[in-house]
Amino acid sequence: MSFDFSLIWNSLPLLLAGAGVTIEITAIAVGLGFIFGLITSVCRLSGVKTLQVIAVCYVNIIRGTPMLVQIFLIYFALPMVIGERINPFVAAVAACSINSGAYVSEIFRAGIQSVDKGQMEAGRSLGLSWMQTMRYVIMPQAFKHVIPPLGNEFISMTKETSLVSVIGFEELTRRGQLIIAKTYGSFEIWLTVAAIYLVMTLTIARLVSYLERRFATDDRN
Ligand code: ARG
Repeated sequence: MSFDFSLIWNSLPLLLAGAGVTIEITAIAVGLGFIFGLITSVCRLSGVKTLQVIAVCYVNIIRGTPMLVQIFLIYFALPMVIGERINPFVAAVAACSINSGAYVSEIFRAGIQSVDKGQMEAGRSLGLSWMQTMRYVIMPQAFKHVIPPLGNEFISMTKETSLVSVIGFEELTRRGQLIIAKTYGSFEIWLTVAAIYLVMTLTIARLVSYLERRFATDDRN
């Protein structure tokens, strides 16, 4: 077997464009996941039974089923119910963000619970409402505890988005498949695809450790 460097060189623009799409969909998914997760974790800790049940069901169902199946459900099964085709981009974003929201909600729940109970009591005894204490007392303290696991989620999602290649959405992995279908250069292309993912995840890891260092200092003042 000969290693064809020119194939890598020639495919690089297409693959890098695919990497751009991967970053885009990851950012949207984790961004929306952040919002879903925040709402879900607050519901879970609200003490309101109905909200708690909905939050627990959401997290358990999403975490308990493969993301691949969730993608199939949204892209192939949902259109049968609503009677309309779903654009692969919308399906990909929906599946990834709903999935991410469940994981992020557990990250937030752990973060919120890591803040001493006395903080809520202190806030309440000062006349703040439950929601105000959450917003102004608990959340700012919980935030720095959730940076490392949120970074982890970002890294996970960057790789997990490769699953949306199964519905033909042209992110990095799908681009790789398409190039191989034309050139048969499996070895060169998969190696390049892997290298691009690695560069992306290592960059995110560096960014996260920078953020972690920045926010960690506040605690010691
Ligand atoms: N691939 C696994 C699954 O199918 C893990 C998904 C992880 N998702 C996440 N948001 N971290 O469930």
